Amino acid sequence: MRNFAIAASIAALALGLVGPASAQSPIIIKFSHVVATDTPKGKGAEKFKELAEKYTAGKVKVEVYPNSTLYKDKEELEALQLGSVQMLAPSNSKFGPLGIREFEVFDLPYILPDLKTLRKVTEGPLGARLLKLLDAKGITGLAYWDNGFKQMSANKKLVTPADYQGVKFRIQSSRVIQAQFKALSSLPQVMAFSEVYQALQTGVVDGQENTWSNIYTQKMHEVQKYITETNHGYIGYVVIVNKKFWDDLPADIRDPLTKAMKEATDFSNTQSQKENDDALAEIKKSGKSEIIKLTPEQDEMLRKAMEPVYKDAAGRIGQPLIDEFLKEAKSTTN
Ligand code: LMR
Repeated sequence: MRNFAIAASIAALALGLVGPASAQSPIIIKFSHVVATDTPKGKGAEKFKELAEKYTAGKVKVEVYPNSTLYKDKEELEALQLGSVQMLAPSNSKFGPLGIREFEVFDLPYILPDLKTLRKVTEGPLGARLLKLLDAKGITGLAYWDNGFKQMSANKKLVTPADYQGVKFRIQSSRVIQAQFKALSSLPQVMAFSEVYQALQTGVVDGQENTWSNIYTQKMHEVQKYITETNHGYIGYVVIVNKKFWDDLPADIRDPLTKAMKEATDFSNTQSQKENDDALAEIKKSGKSEIIKLTPEQDEMLRKAMEPVYKDAAGRIGQPLIDEFLKEAKSTTN
């Protein structure tokens, strides 16, 4: 009897009636990311999953892996290029090390004064042009997702530029961010996002820069005595897919996925600011970190101290691209 059952299963498999070769098997999209689910990116990924599965009537299954459960920062891009994972949303900073230097512009201090300017960049021809650069790396850029503006945290009070001297900061792998901390005479150290909490806790580094939502969901505020509200830089993401995977999808799958991505993007970008405001409120409520606000004079001092970063970046990415960003900022404020 048992032998008969095994033989029947083998026959069914051979005929393609059951198992992984079945025509009914959904297409799997593994969507890996490094942050918590309760963040702008985490919620965007969940929204995309919901809509993608709905609009393809279950022909696509999206598996979301948050919190670096599959890959850490650098590894996830390699995995996407190899096709081991299909979708990611790395921060803009992650593309410079991949050889697409133009993305370094997003890391320049104070380059994006507000979300309105950011939208003009990402939703306009400039944003589209930058996405196109990813093609050469076997990557298709689908959308820009917000996180928000970065704050500085440390175990000492960071008020004037002199306070940054000799402080060890965890940074993402970015030439611009490295130059930013060098301009402040700090000691930048590249580290994967998943390792930051422990590095702060054990004193491997003294401080870091990130958005309120990332600081709160990684519990960094529990191991940092002070957070200075600087809004000195921006963290946002490009949602990317393996180009071959995407191009090979039949149109009746790719089109509903494109629609799902558009709606997930609108959803994510509409609530990113609130996510960060809520995280700030929670950090304040916890009483674990003291939040420092800069006076306009102190803010100006920090801006001035970081100015050399522009010259450094222009040498690599060219002044014209920086000027294009600055022009958008000017036209928004005027
Ligand atoms: C970081 O590495 O600090 C961030 O880019 C993490 C993220 O994806 O928001």
